[in-house]
Amino acid sequence: MKNGQGQVAEIHLDSRARILCPPELIPAPGQYIFAHALGSDEPLAVPVFFSGSAPDGFRAAPGLPLSWTPGTKLNLRGPLGRGFAIPASARKVALVAFDDSPERLRGLIPIAFKQGAEVVLVSDVAAHDLPEAVEIQPLQAFSEICQWADYAAFDVSRENLPRLREKIGMGNQLQAQILVRAPMPCGAVAECGVCAVNIRNEWKLICKDGPVFEF
Ligand code: FES
Repeated sequence: MKNGQGQVAEIHLDSRARILCPPELIPAPGQYIFAHALGSDEPLAVPVFFSGSAPDGFRAAPGLPLSWTPGTKLNLRGPLGRGFAIPASARKVALVAFDDSPERLRGLIPIAFKQGAEVVLVSDVAAHDLPEAVEIQPLQAFSEICQWADYAAFDVSRENLPRLREKIGMGNQLQAQILVRAPMPCGAVAECGVCAVNIRNEWKLICKDGPVFEF
């Protein structure tokens, strides 16, 4: 984990942003960096998730403060948390955005392609400029795609985690990882507990033990 400075280079129409930062601060898919705009009166830093590669930094997933504009300078801390790890044997990869944008999962696409896997993106929120080889399905196809996949990466809010687990089904042998989203005010510094989540009857901190958990 490192501290450093970065800058917002551009904000895209799909609300992703290109962030300039030193290479050692770039989070892996599923990880995040903590960012605070220099000179802003926002009291808290915010988690910024990887969405894709970009020159001199990375493309960040949506959900950034509206006050950030191109040129905004950032204090950065990270990379933080546990990210995704696609098993090397996976050949049918499902990326499932259960209740929000699929952009936090997008960074897995080139990794899956590199190991020769097919990729299906399941989401009811549109993602732009995806590679043509990515098949897009609505959430309605959830069960069918979970049957097809040999690995799935999910993105879900903490509130919807029980609903997602129920939908996947306890008996399902699917290899899966779940990125769980919740407010993370201290970003693993103060153990504030705001991001606590119950994973298989154990309390975990999303900011530190996650945000990606094994299914
Ligand atoms: S955000 Fe404070 S413990 Fe996770």
